[in-house]
Amino acid sequence: MPGLFDEFRLKGVTLRNRIAVSPMCQYSAIDGMPTDWHFVHLGARAVGGAGLVCVEATGVTPAGRISPGCTGIWSDAHGHAFARITKFVKGQGAVPGIQLAHAGRKASAQRPWEGDAHIPPEQGGWEILGPSAVAFGGNLPIVPRAMTKADIHATSVAFADAAERALEAGFEWLELHFAHGYLAHSFFSPLSNVRTDEYGGSMVNRARFLTETLAAVRKVWPDHLPLTARLSVEDYAPGGVTLDDSIALAKLLKAGGLDMIDVSMGFNVPDVSGIPWAPGFLAPASERLRREAGIPTSVGWLILEAQQADDIVRREQADFVMLAREMLRDPNWPYHAALALSRDNPQSLLPVQYARVARR
Ligand SMILES: Cc1cc2nc3c(=O)[nH]c(=O)nc-3n(C[C@H](O)[C@H](O)[C@H](O)COP(=O)(O)O)c2cc1C
Repeated sequence: MPGLFDEFRLKGVTLRNRIAVSPMCQYSAIDGMPTDWHFVHLGARAVGGAGLVCVEATGVTPAGRISPGCTGIWSDAHGHAFARITKFVKGQGAVPGIQLAHAGRKASAQRPWEGDAHIPPEQGGWEILGPSAVAFGGNLPIVPRAMTKADIHATSVAFADAAERALEAGFEWLELHFAHGYLAHSFFSPLSNVRTDEYGGSMVNRARFLTETLAAVRKVWPDHLPLTARLSVEDYAPGGVTLDDSIALAKLLKAGGLDMIDVSMGFNVPDVSGIPWAPGFLAPASERLRREAGIPTSVGWLILEAQQADDIVRREQADFVMLAREMLRDPNWPYHAALALSRDNPQSLLPVQYARVARR
């Protein structure tokens, strides 16, 4: 049974271990362009020994950004700006990935440290789109404009164009953000999609924007590079997405050429009370989806300790773990995990410049 420090191969790409840096918005882009902050943030975690370093939710259109500080990849110039980062990440032995996103009805929001609320039009906010004219609520109260079929089609095309730019920029791993209440998840969840056309109603109809977007991306993203999607496998809200729904969706996406599911949860409605917060609480859901849909998975949420991460991999609950906040606390988490698990040669997780002198 492979463990945390065994390689993971998917299509033509091999991760040096089963530790990934989960996508994390930094709200530090300028007009969608990644900045030196992104170079250092992502570069430091590649230096720290992770197998996969995934860039944050990156807007496929300007209106698809969560906040004015979010990265985007809607022009070739944006793609070129990422190339410096992918080159450095690869040079450190990590695989560079990017998460492509459209924020839907949660777009046009302030940076979290500026309030995290919708930005009204008179303060520079932009038009918000969604499957239906149903607001998220809470601090994101603006009612989205229900997308026309032309909007829906154009957005799938924007994902495909973004994928082409990501490839050109040197990314070797592509994740479609179909989670966290953003546009794709809001199409799939009956809580936010009340359409009566072929994009609403039945499970297959609610999945249609996702399957069409996948099909568009699959045409341009090469077969030898992994194509994954992040799903919120549970809404944890009455009438919302359940794990059974997500397993059915994963089967559809797999049939459409998806290589892996990144298992996440929630955030399509505010003030949810039923999330069973505990270390590694999503691992059982990942295990079930992995087994029943027959597709590799990664999983995140409150994976804090090396032993816990190793157990998740060894028990085949997921093929690898996605770490977010722990990676912020400690960019060298992989090295410290290797020490904690008494692995031989932990200094191999450090860059050559550090290894000889920094090991303990
Ligand atoms: C600062 C921050 C930004 C995040 N941005 C994203 C994002 O861009 N895309 C995404 O799918 N998840 C995002 N997340 C969620 C994380 O990827 C991760 O799934 C979540 O934090 C749970 O993992 P953890 O318990 O290891 O932090 C973000 C989390 C944090 C803390």
